[in-house]
Amino acid sequence: MAKDNNVDPSAKAARVAPSSSPLQRKAALEGNYPPVPEVCVVTGGTGFVGNRLVEMLVERGAKRVISFDVVPPPEDAWKHPNIEWRTGDITDRKAVDDLLSMPGIGCVWHNAAAVGPFHPKPLYFKVNYEGTLNIIESAKEHGIKKIVFSSSPSTRFTGEDVDGLTEEEMPKLPLGKYMQTYAETKAMGEMALSNACTNEFLTIAVAPHQVYGPRDNLFLPNLLEAAMHGKLRVFGEGYNRICFTHVDNYCHGLIISEKALYPNSPALGKFYIVTDGKTHPKGEQYLIFWKILDEAIVAMGFSSLWKKLHLSKGLLMFIAGICEFIGGILGITMKLNKFNVTVLTMHRWFDISAAEKDLGFQPIVGFREGWDETKTWFKENWLPMQTKSNNLFGIAQSTQDKINIQDKSSKTNAKK
Ligand SMILES: NC(=O)c1ccc[n+]([C@@H]2O[C@H](COP(=O)([O-])OP(=O)(O)OC[C@H]3O[C@@H](n4cnc5c(N)ncnc54)[C@H](O)[C@@H]3O)[C@@H](O)[C@H]2O)c1
Repeated sequence: MAKDNNVDPSAKAARVAPSSSPLQRKAALEGNYPPVPEVCVVTGGTGFVGNRLVEMLVERGAKRVISFDVVPPPEDAWKHPNIEWRTGDITDRKAVDDLLSMPGIGCVWHNAAAVGPFHPKPLYFKVNYEGTLNIIESAKEHGIKKIVFSSSPSTRFTGEDVDGLTEEEMPKLPLGKYMQTYAETKAMGEMALSNACTNEFLTIAVAPHQVYGPRDNLFLPNLLEAAMHGKLRVFGEGYNRICFTHVDNYCHGLIISEKALYPNSPALGKFYIVTDGKTHPKGEQYLIFWKILDEAIVAMGFSSLWKKLHLSKGLLMFIAGICEFIGGILGITMKLNKFNVTVLTMHRWFDISAAEKDLGFQPIVGFREGWDETKTWFKENWLPMQTKSNNLFGIAQSTQDKINIQDKSSKTNAKK
């Protein structure tokens, strides 16, 4: 185990990722975190969460972290001697075997996935389910003992409000019907992993909700882009309660979950949700989604959504039905679809006491500071990159570019 405690403060400072925001830096330097395995594998390591996870494992003392992602590392990826940025596809069993045959791997954080509602349907099954089977089978064959899986609360969504439920109070997998293919295939991956869990092969699934933070490439850019073009309105009354997870809080939850993996641990094979917890406004575990989103919109210099007409859920569902029909003909998923209308109008927040008790989880970045810094980051880094091209029916270009690479690689592997 790579030890983090009792490290000389100047050595620790030199170990912080250069692209860290001030809050990320503070959390890295001031926290007293348990040791991490010397050799770590992160699938999906160039994604929003995965990239930060790779960085935080190094910050916490890992000697070698191998990122494995179908999308190559960005130019500004941390060029640290302890990080290997390997480009590869989890649907390619041989590439997975090459990866996991490396000696000494202490834990695999399986994070790679086709994420969000915009991918071609077959890709979800290929990556989120079959890719996960490849990781499980190869890890077992190569004697790897621990896997931490990034799951999603949407695996348990039925369209009903989730108003402060614990994991135990949510519907059990498998659901009779899933709200989207992403959720269905993440659930299939999670169940496969949980079924494979034994006292020798230790697994756990950890999910965030609505991850935000610097370098987010899906959630905030897509909503801000719609607001920039004046196309976004408050959906419904606008008072639905939602919880958020700062990217560092999620990565912290993923990292400490490895510590809960030991024979007979109460966490084995289980599903946990981690969020910003009681650092949400007023010490509750939720925020008012459209109020908080509006803060970011106004911070970019766009007009407040609350000054515009709200759109009723019934009307939105009707328009979403038309968009889905047109999208079906054009073969694309539009931003306005029934799933998005449902999730943007329902309550979606959780009581995270199980993660606090079983994993010892507490957020390391508070919601207010984290959200304020995220707004600043988007103003300084996202806003200047925007062109006024009208992209109402599509999705953010950065999101689309990544999807294209993932889809192309999966098709190439299918032909092999
Ligand atoms: N962002 C959220 O709000 C959120 C919420 C719930 C769950 N999650 C889970 O967290 C994890 C990370 O999500 P994220 O937000 O960082 O998304 P992301 O899209 O930024 O990251 C996923 C990464 O997986 C990679 N990937 C996709 N297909 C691959 C393949 N075949 N082989 C190798 N790599 C592949 C992608 O290139 C991408 O870099 C995912 O497992 C996701 O299901 C995220």
